[in-house]
Amino acid sequence: MRIRRAAETDLGELQRAIFTDMSLAELRAADERFNRPPDSLHIVAENDDGEIVASCNLIRETHRMRRHRAELGGFVIVPAERGSGLARRMIDYLARYARREWDVSILDVACRGGTAAERAYRGLGFTEWARLPGGYLDYDAIYDEVRLYRPVPPLD
Ligand SMILES: CC(C)(COP(=O)(O)OP(=O)(O)OC[C@H]1O[C@@H](n2cnc3c(N)ncnc32)[C@H](O)[C@@H]1OP(=O)(O)O)[C@@H](O)C(=O)NCCC(=O)NCCS
Repeated sequence: MRIRRAAETDLGELQRAIFTDMSLAELRAADERFNRPPDSLHIVAENDDGEIVASCNLIRETHRMRRHRAELGGFVIVPAERGSGLARRMIDYLARYARREWDVSILDVACRGGTAAERAYRGLGFTEWARLPGGYLDYDAIYDEVRLYRPVPPLD
């Protein structure tokens, strides 16, 4: 399994394997926003057959007082690879990148409360710092918006 920066040429495979509800144009627009040096990074995990099995992005905050923070988004692992330790490897990859390139010391993420994602983030070392009751109106359900953070240790 290899974790690397996403490339323009990955968009078709990302659509086929991960973001099946999105059009290529939507994916291209998202990638332009989430994979733009110097302040954002979009990574993918590729299995030994060259298939993309996971995707995640990280955006550095730009406000002067928040430049030590970066926000995770779009974290998806294909069902067959969940629970395999890949989530931890991807977060570690992003944390190291954020510290090395941006000197970021806090990773931040938002998710729907009460879901497997919230439990996974806690399992990955994130701590809740805010909760907006009813913050997300999904198609047919209401969720709290939960925000969690994880400190990024200094590089060895
Ligand atoms: C969110 C997602 C990327 C997490 O990946 P995952 O492979 O399912 O995560 P893991 O199973 O490795 O869980 C991460 C850690 O949390 C722990 N964990 C997971 N569920 C847990 C639970 N119910 N209780 C306690 N710990 C739990 C795991 O043990 C693991 O820790 P470990 O590496 O020490 O074993 C994945 O579930 C996914 O793609 N979900 C669908 C898309 C989604 O909801 N994305 C989030 C948008 S914010």
